[in-house]
Amino acid sequence: MDRVCFVTGGTRGIGRAVVTALLSGGDRVAFTGTSSARVAEAERALAAAYGDPARIVGMTCDVRDPGAVAAAIGTVVSRFGGLDVLVNNAGVGVGTEVANLSHDDWRHIIETNLTGVFNCCHAAIPHFKSRGAGWIISVSSLASKNAFAGGAAYCASKAGLNAFSEALMQEVRHDNIRVSYVLPGSVATEFSGRPEGTGADWKLLPQDVADVIVDLLAHPARSLPSRVEIRPSRPKKA
Ligand SMILES: NC(=O)c1ccc[n+]([C@@H]2O[C@H](COP(=O)([O-])OP(=O)(O)OC[C@H]3O[C@@H](n4cnc5c(N)ncnc54)[C@H](OP(=O)(O)O)[C@@H]3O)[C@@H](O)[C@H]2O)c1
Repeated sequence: MDRVCFVTGGTRGIGRAVVTALLSGGDRVAFTGTSSARVAEAERALAAAYGDPARIVGMTCDVRDPGAVAAAIGTVVSRFGGLDVLVNNAGVGVGTEVANLSHDDWRHIIETNLTGVFNCCHAAIPHFKSRGAGWIISVSSLASKNAFAGGAAYCASKAGLNAFSEALMQEVRHDNIRVSYVLPGSVATEFSGRPEGTGADWKLLPQDVADVIVDLLAHPARSLPSRVEIRPSRPKKA
């Protein structure tokens, strides 16, 4: 499609599957992560797989840092000549009950999953407005509506992301900027603290979420699927 896409947290898991799917469809893709070693590894592997290093750029950029995010998006716009799609995927979680959750862990989760999305949208929207179009897709979670003990910070961050997305959608829809968020259930990634692929016999795979995002992006300009839930069809019985 030759869109210019910026995907946060593209070094592994769902983000990497999104980057892979967009590259396969002909888009140019910039992706981020906080670990420069993982960013370099992903950039090398994806460039080798897709044969055209000019279409991919990996960036070490922490979504919690507004200056770094604005600089990264500015670099992408200069290098690729614009920006069409922002995928807010970077996210973290810690399964600790409130009484034992440190202030640092609380801030880490809220600043990555919620403030990080604000930082990226804030930096991207002026570029979308100057282009006259854009699409923001954020990866939320079914945990935003199915809260669980030990997940207060994570569930709150994702519930906040849902509300943020719905308000933003109403702010920018008349500028031809579409805003969507997807709510996956369990996905077999390292997010669980176990190696990627653990639980793949019943969980979603990263590419299932990537497929939903690519399908969204195929909708015609008049159509805005604003919220999409995706869950394992046959979850493990409790
Ligand atoms: N796995 C699930 O069951 C599940 C279910 C529902 C929703 N989700 C959501 O899906 C998204 C992706 O999760 P995943 O399962 O693919 O997790 P993952 O395998 O742990 O990958 C997370 C990605 O985010 C990056 N990242 C983390 N903090 C960052 C920051 N501050 N700035 C920039 N990048 C950062 C990581 O790179 P570095 O390590 O280099 O920073 C990595 O590329 C998250 O938003 C998560 O909440 C996951």
